[in-house]
Amino acid sequence: MPTTPPEPARGRVVITADGPVLVPGPVEVVTADGTRAYSDRPVTALCVCGQSGRYPFCDTSHRRRVRSAHQEDA
Ligand code: FES
Repeated sequence: MPTTPPEPARGRVVITADGPVLVPGPVEVVTADGTRAYSDRPVTALCVCGQSGRYPFCDTSHRRRVRSAHQEDA
């Protein structure tokens, strides 16, 4: 897989370590069941943890999961 984008790149998707995937917007999101959601934000955070009450968008619920995991390590 190429590691450098064709010029000009159309956008950048950022995969965060413990949280959402950040995609440039506005963007339409289609979920696995075909549901369509739309965000007009300049950057949209997509939930990848499955805990969001606003799925497919991140509502920061992943922070509780990460915090709990760190507490279990301690
Ligand atoms: S990634 Fe943030 S709530 Fe799921």
